[in-house]
Amino acid sequence: MSKKTVLVSGGAGFIGSHVTVELIAAGYDVVVADNFSNCDHTCFEGVKKITGREDLPLEVVDFCDAAATDALFAKYPIDAVIHFAAFKAVGESVAEPVKYYKNNLTSFLNVLETAQKRGGCNVLFSSSATVYGEPEKVPVTEQTPRQPATSPYGNTKTMCEDILRDTVKANGGKIKGILLRYFNPIGAHPSALIGELPRGVPNNLVPYITQTAIGKRECLNIFGNDYPTPDGTCQRDFIDIVDLAKAHVYAVTRMVEGKMKQDCEVFNVGTGRPLSVMELVNAFEKVNGVKLNYKFAPRRAGDITAIWADPTLAETEMGWKATRTIEETLKAAWAWECHLAGK
Ligand code: UD1
Repeated sequence: MSKKTVLVSGGAGFIGSHVTVELIAAGYDVVVADNFSNCDHTCFEGVKKITGREDLPLEVVDFCDAAATDALFAKYPIDAVIHFAAFKAVGESVAEPVKYYKNNLTSFLNVLETAQKRGGCNVLFSSSATVYGEPEKVPVTEQTPRQPATSPYGNTKTMCEDILRDTVKANGGKIKGILLRYFNPIGAHPSALIGELPRGVPNNLVPYITQTAIGKRECLNIFGNDYPTPDGTCQRDFIDIVDLAKAHVYAVTRMVEGKMKQDCEVFNVGTGRPLSVMELVNAFEKVNGVKLNYKFAPRRAGDITAIWADPTLAETEMGWKATRTIEETLKAAWAWECHLAGK
């Protein structure tokens, strides 16, 4: 059987680079496409080193450019596209909604329009647990009702889910879609050659922790210790980035091998294990033998008290399951920060 080709839009970013590594390991041909608006070449270079693929195709493309998107699909025999190319800072999206709607919707619409023009494609969209909002019951299954988004960023995830669903429906099986709803992706590749590279002050917890531990930030603020949870801090489902990347390989394989049960499917990608912010901080200190400077601070606006996945469907349907322990994940996150610091 000839190799299948997967286009990874946003493939030079945090999630995209890890997914590219796992796709190549599974025997796929990968085309990485990125406009480098929110990352540099560090991770792309890391992917080439990890995979030994110096010839890995890289296309510098902005998916908001319809003609460039068309040209890309004309150049390669693309069997599936995984769409990551999007802006992702929640706070910035509140301040600049037009920028977020324009970029995140236009780029996805261009991918779908091109797929349609070319007679079809398999499309995997990177959605988020943010679509569940503050759930009434945890863990959440794929049947848990979505809630109105609390930020323009979150709303672009909800809207892109609907756009893909409608497009699949209208194309009589020629376009197939999988929506993966990620919980909280953290960690880095065990090689420490690729990982998260936030620009400026990190918004997310683990990069803030590692930057504090290395001395780039003075003190971690733990936002709220008065939540109705066992230790008062928020609970999340922290999913290892390599485990999460592997879920994409299972999903792509399901699509290209014609194993889907519906033309548009949705899967949670989480561990099913809740961990509080405090538990995560303690685990980080213990496993890495470092002392973290932290203090309790007021709650952050828009934060959810507790959310974690019921990941049963991904296991029964795709055979995917998270396997890495939180200790392995936090060790990898620290090794990556040390690698960046040249230590
Ligand atoms: C956030 C986004 C979510 C997005 C995800 C991407 C919000 C409300 N949600 O999820 O839409 O898909 O990132 O990864 O922004 N925390 C601290 N101190 C910090 C940073 C975070 O205490 O410096 C706490 C937060 O209050 C939260 C937990 O750590 O309870 C996780 O925060 P974060 O990593 O930002 O992820 P989410 O907010 O869950």
